[in-house]
Amino acid sequence: AGVRRYKWDVKYEFKSLDCYKKLAITINGKTPGPTILARQGDTIIVEVTNGLVTENLAIHWHGIRQIGSPWSDGTEGVTQCPILPGDNFTYRFIVDRPGTYLYHAHYGMQREAGLYGSIRVLLPDGVAEPFTYDYDRSIILNDWYHASTYEQAAGLSSIPFVWVEEPQSLLIQGKGKFDCSKLVTASSDPMACNTTNPECSPYMLTVVQGKTYRLRISSVTALSALSFQIEGHNMTVVEADGHYVEPIVVQNLFIYSGETYSVLIKIDQEPSRNYWITTNIVGRDATAKTPPGLAILNYYPNHPKRVPPTDPPAGPIWNDTAPRLAQSVAIKARQGYVHTPPPKSDRVIVLLNTQNKIDGYIRWSVNNVSFTFPHTPYLIALKENLHHVFDQHPPPDRLHEFTTYDIYGVVNNTNATSSNAIYRLKFNSTVDIILQNANTMTENNSETHPWHLHGHDFWVLGYGKGKFDAKNDPKKYNLANPIMKNTVAVHPYGWTALRFVADNPGVWLFHCHIESHFYMGMRVVFEEGVEKVSKLPSEIMGCGETKAFKKP
Ligand code: C2O
Ligand code: CU
Repeated sequence: AGVRRYKWDVKYEFKSLDCYKKLAITINGKTPGPTILARQGDTIIVEVTNGLVTENLAIHWHGIRQIGSPWSDGTEGVTQCPILPGDNFTYRFIVDRPGTYLYHAHYGMQREAGLYGSIRVLLPDGVAEPFTYDYDRSIILNDWYHASTYEQAAGLSSIPFVWVEEPQSLLIQGKGKFDCSKLVTASSDPMACNTTNPECSPYMLTVVQGKTYRLRISSVTALSALSFQIEGHNMTVVEADGHYVEPIVVQNLFIYSGETYSVLIKIDQEPSRNYWITTNIVGRDATAKTPPGLAILNYYPNHPKRVPPTDPPAGPIWNDTAPRLAQSVAIKARQGYVHTPPPKSDRVIVLLNTQNKIDGYIRWSVNNVSFTFPHTPYLIALKENLHHVFDQHPPPDRLHEFTTYDIYGVVNNTNATSSNAIYRLKFNSTVDIILQNANTMTENNSETHPWHLHGHDFWVLGYGKGKFDAKNDPKKYNLANPIMKNTVAVHPYGWTALRFVADNPGVWLFHCHIESHFYMGMRVVFEEGVEKVSKLPSEIMGCGETKAFKKP
């Protein structure tokens, strides 16, 4: 196995990704940042320089389990102190599995300022995939806001609450198009919003007739659930979060923030024209606010800028959850590549997802607890026995009133509590998590939450509508060929059941991948086998009560 070294300079730069000029966080001048290309077993070394001047930084390697390197997970508050402005930090980890992964900032709401990119891990030389294709391409989807993350974070933690609203644009591989005529205030800067700016010319994927393309499609949206489609072409889903999928053919690929999929497309349509690649928001009514994201599938040798002769196809109806649930259920492990889950679990943790208030502030909670981080990262606190830095009482495995909780209504008392207590799992035990959705504080409203687990893949055992029935629903679990993933959606008014083995020594975040929900407390932390973690590098220290451990 090889070693791949990267040197990244992270800084703010003015970018016009959707033609509107705003500050974005870039890596070596780019957003999305460079794609990390590696082979299974390689060691990745990324030397990061924080050039953000007035802002801390941390970078997470989403989907990489960090076996033996839990301090490289890049989760500020959990596995490391933030990288201070002007400082360097070196992430070092092994990519032990082939597949499609992501990286992104994991400090505050920094991810949505543009620090993100793809990780593509190939099989070792001579090992074949269970499908064939001629070319391999990565496409990252994102939503894009014109307000700064500071304005958004301040709004979310204010009374009255200021919601981030729907994004201004959708970006396909970092490119979008905002209608500049919608701006309320004109600017004297001719480039402040200029649709002729080449920086916002649409992403173009040039393809050759008769060939098959593997598209690695991933989403790092701040808020939006998306549907992705290619006009006139079906997509065959073959990979999800680094695991082979029993192939299914789709016209709309539904994708939630933090998920990655590979699809195969065959270039077999009328070759004298180009086709639209589009993405739309689903699950929220953004039709009047966010235009679809557009890119061009360019059939060589047509001019790549030639606009397709048709209108971009309309996306699916935003509030129809049935096809989204159907796709979730249809994603199964590929025959011949099934990892069978342990038949039974040692512990079941039910996590009821609710929107609440604490002292008048709007928050998101699980089991009525909205999560806060201590000043000292858990990994260091636990390794160095600094037990006073966070609440030692275990958080609830199940809200005691769960059986009587009405998931379809707005509860009378929406008040929650906040805590920094964590779930401590027995090393090597098998844990089931039931994510239970509910109504928000708005009547007849339940949202989709993509939950992401650090440090593990989990089996997706099942999805259901309504309230989880602890007696009967487990009998319907798919134990035969469940897909393994690291991110999974809990659909409106539904539940999702997962199983994982707590076999990775470290401290791991589990959270909703919607940036504002995460920020508002929709997260928990798991610890397992921390005593097996080897000596922590002093580079991760320096904040809270860890100052004494940092070598000069
Ligand atoms: Cu991709 Cu903790 O996130
Ligand atoms: Cu959420």
